This record gives sequence, C-alpha cells and structure tokens, in this order.
Amino acid sequence: MSSLREEIEILKKEKQAVILAHYYVPGEVQEIADYTGDSFYLSKVAKETDAKILVFAGVSFMGESAKILNPEKKVLLPDPTADCAMAHMADVEKIKAMKESDPELAVVCYINSTAELKRYSDVCVTSANAVKVVKALPNQRIYFIPDQHLGSFVAAQVPEKEIILGDGYCPVHHQMTAEEVLSAKEAHPDALVFVHPECPKEVVDLADYAGSTSGIIKAAAESDAGEFLIGTETGVMYELKKQNPDKKFYPIQKEQCCHDMKKVTLEKIRDCLRDESNEVQVDAEVSEKAKHAMEQMLKLAK
Ligand code: 13P
Ligand code: SF4
Repeated sequence: MSSLREEIEILKKEKQAVILAHYYVPGEVQEIADYTGDSFYLSKVAKETDAKILVFAGVSFMGESAKILNPEKKVLLPDPTADCAMAHMADVEKIKAMKESDPELAVVCYINSTAELKRYSDVCVTSANAVKVVKALPNQRIYFIPDQHLGSFVAAQVPEKEIILGDGYCPVHHQMTAEEVLSAKEAHPDALVFVHPECPKEVVDLADYAGSTSGIIKAAAESDAGEFLIGTETGVMYELKKQNPDKKFYPIQKEQCCHDMKKVTLEKIRDCLRDESNEVQVDAEVSEKAKHAMEQMLKLAK
C-alpha cells in the first residue's frame, strides 16, 4: 500500500495537477505543495499556470480567486467548508450606497473577501501590495473593505488620501493585544516582534516589522537577530523554521490558529484529486466583474 504522499504524487502526474498552498495550512501539506506562498504570490501562480487542475490548499476565497483569474482551469478545494470569516464582513448594499454618494470614490477590496464583494469593487489588494496599489490609484477617496486593521495600516502609510474603513476583521489577528506583546517581550527580551497588518494598530505600533506572511518570512531570513516573536497564524512557523534552523520563533500568544486553514489535510487533498470533487464554481457574471478588480491589482502592483 503506497503512502498518501505517493498517491498524491501519482495523481498529480496523471491529471496534470498542481497543488497551491498558503503558509497557514499544516506543515505536511506545505511540504507536498508545488507552490507555497502568500495570497499575492498564489494569485499570480493561479493566473499563469499551465496545469489542467489546481488544488488550492487554503480557504474558499483563495480557490474562488484562482477560478476567477483562470476560469478555464478546474480548481478543487480539499475542504470546501474551510472559509475565512472576514471574507463575509462587508455589505454589498453599503458599497452601492457609498458609490452613489460619491462617484469619485474607489472601493478597494482586500482579497480576503467573497467573489460577490469583489464584483462591486474597483480593485483588489493583498497585504503584500495594499500600500502600493492604494498609492497608485488616481482616486483621492478610498472605501477600504473588509479589514479595518489592514485599512488603517494602509491609511497610516498613505496619509495623502482619505481612507474610509470597513468594519471587518480577522478573528485570529483581531484578538491580539498590546499587553500580550509586552509580556511576550518580557519573556524574550532579545526577540524582534514581526506581525501581520491584520493585527490591531496598537500591536502593529509595537512591532519591529509588519507585513504579509511572505514579508515576515523574508524579513526574518534577512535579519541578524536570532529570536522572533511572531504575530500571525502559526502555520508560518513551518517555513520560518525551515529557512532558519538556527533561529528561534515564538508565537505572541496561544490562540494564533486559523482552524479553517487547518481543515486542509493530505487525505482530503488525495480524495479531491482522485475524485475531482469539490470543484469551485463562480457565476459567470460575478466572475467577469470580480476578475476586473483582481486584474487591476495585478497591473497596479507590478
Ligand atoms: P497573506 O496574504 O499575508 O499571506 O495573508 C493572508 C491571510 O489570510 C492573513 O490572515
Ligand atoms: Fe481569514 Fe484570518 Fe484565517 Fe486569514 S487567518 S484566512 S484572515 S480567518
């Protein structure tokens, strides 16, 4: 009986499939992936791949985004119930009302959002490119959805624009506090603090570096420091430790787990690839409009 990993390798070849994995899925899934990265990198891979089937080891908005960017491909989600709570934290009626009240307003939508929200947005962003994209937009007034914290991180770096914040948040990052950072620093006084911009402002303000998952991984590899306090989902530890076996990484607190990302397992990858099940479907009209917002991002983030 061959191992799960072997079965997956055989199926991948047979079906001309590739596995894309986000840094938050379990380490053994990252290990077998053809591409592992942050949301921006994975979007570019999804758009450019020649593979026939894409297995997206991540949450549902990621699979949806891959399908929108490359609708000819079959995109499979190992667990279609793996969802991002923040992806639903904005309201189409509110977007429409905001646009009606100011036709010059640009709606900037974090990629962690449903296709329906992207459909009504002018441009998408990821945490890796949000500052660059917002700066590059010709619009002076921006409605930033859904993440209030990434929105305020961008607003601090683009003070020349008026940024109206949505009220969404990531439950994993939102609950981190300044007190927890300070007590983690007391326990590890030599460690640098690296956080994701989905954390609240008071946490970002205490950090030595704030950026996307791949930004954190790159900054840790380039740093001379030997210890780091990490303020993002603990799945990044897999790549951090792999690239820096001699450095030490500690989570800021114990609750930094995205349980939806952890739903993605090797068994579910094997099953969806074998059965070609859990195919992502996006309504053609929604997809066409959402694609425009995503392609604007790829253009402006270059
Ligand atoms: P990145 O794009 O930085 O990988 O972040 C995605 C995400 O879901 C953060 O919670
Ligand atoms: Fe969504 Fe937060 Fe999970 Fe990222 S960590 S996928 S923002 S719930």
